[in-house]
Amino acid sequence: MARDKQVFFCKECGFESAKWLGQCPGCKQWNTFVEERVKAGAKTTSVKRDRVEPTSIRKVTASDESRIPTGIRELDRVLGGGIVKGSLVLVGGDPGIGKSTILLQMCRLLSNRGESVLYVSGEESPSQIKSRAERLGSFDRDLMLLCDCDMDNIEKEISNGDAAVVIVDSIQTMLVEEIGSAPGTVSQVREVTARLMQLAKQQGKAIFIVGHVTKEGTVAGPKTLEHMVDCVLYFEGDNSNGFRVLRGVKNRFGSTNEIGVFTMGENGLSEVANPSELMLSGRPKGVSGSVVVPTIEGTRSILVELQALVCQTNFNMPRRTSVGVDYNRVNLILAVMEKRANMNLWNFDAYVSVAGGMKISDPAVDLGVACAIYSSMNNKVIPEGTLLMGEIGLAGEIRGISSALKRVSEADKMGFTTCIMPSSSMDAAMNKLSIKTIGVSSLTEALSLI
Ligand code: TYD
Ligand code: MG
Repeated sequence: MARDKQVFFCKECGFESAKWLGQCPGCKQWNTFVEERVKAGAKTTSVKRDRVEPTSIRKVTASDESRIPTGIRELDRVLGGGIVKGSLVLVGGDPGIGKSTILLQMCRLLSNRGESVLYVSGEESPSQIKSRAERLGSFDRDLMLLCDCDMDNIEKEISNGDAAVVIVDSIQTMLVEEIGSAPGTVSQVREVTARLMQLAKQQGKAIFIVGHVTKEGTVAGPKTLEHMVDCVLYFEGDNSNGFRVLRGVKNRFGSTNEIGVFTMGENGLSEVANPSELMLSGRPKGVSGSVVVPTIEGTRSILVELQALVCQTNFNMPRRTSVGVDYNRVNLILAVMEKRANMNLWNFDAYVSVAGGMKISDPAVDLGVACAIYSSMNNKVIPEGTLLMGEIGLAGEIRGISSALKRVSEADKMGFTTCIMPSSSMDAAMNKLSIKTIGVSSLTEALSLI
């Protein structure tokens, strides 16, 4: 009788090893190896191809991929203009964030338009899906449901059916019997994805895979799958507020870093046409430590509120915390403020946070972070119609930023009156707007304006 084989996998990148390793040779992460039992002699999918000859690029005719619009504008935007036939899309996010909801909403719109759609669920029963569907609106035409976890069966249903769009919810519940390990393990998740990939490519079906991003645990995160699929979308946002951001992090058929903004309500997710307005709603008035900064998300500019709280420390080491902005970046800005603006921050705790649960990696918010800290420390309120942008360098200089005009125009549209920005990013076109732009070239100059 064949005995089970013991294998170790890296949870981050899927690197396989016969023994446990402290550091993964593949991705250089520490403590990421997990043990799995795989049936000896288990077959894994390998794609068989005919021999192909090289072709001249000049002879290849570019085919315009045919796309199916989903009917949800924000989702289409993240996908790059609709669903591409034969593509494999991974939708990741924390449990309960709304992955099943948005996909079911998409299925509803597609099936109502006459597309044939198959929804495979390994997590919910047909009656559970039905009760969710009732909250989302009417299903005028049929949507096929398949509640199963067995990949052999699912593969057969997908191949035999005529569905052009298939949802697999979720990858962590699907099981390939031959592998022998439990559902959700790295070997299972990889095998299931490989099989779905083959189905999508061979039959030209668009397949959406749902993957839960898990905290430390035995279940493999969808991180290991990112390089296998065509498109990766992540759902972000606080579970406590209704605000959700769908972010494209990889897209073979469109631009990445586009975002779609939604709010979760009684009847599922609804699109937000003006994200800046939503992000700035509920902003406190006349309070120190609050600033508005424009960020660029994909092709759009979104205004967000940034808050800082600075208070005397009771510890030997001051505490620094950041939510939504990079922690190291905040420390760097604090150091520049100490050295270049002669501020004594060493005995002050500093907390920086982006309101609304957005995550920002745009360096143009540096000046906003510095001014929010300055404002909180000195109890100086930054006037309501003012916004700030600029990257801070180690010499205390304010460096130029990308898409400055787009940011200023958005602020103008939202009724802001003054914009403090890098002088090197000023543009003649900004004079046509009603917003007043003030160019600064150093941090001290910017702080003196507040
Ligand atoms: P769900 O799509 O099940 O999350 P995931 O598939 O990512 O795990 O989201 C479920 C959450 O959304 C749950 O907390 C209930 C909430 N919800 C609403 O607030 N309104 C609705 O109309 C629906 C369908 C769900
Ligand atoms: Mg779900």
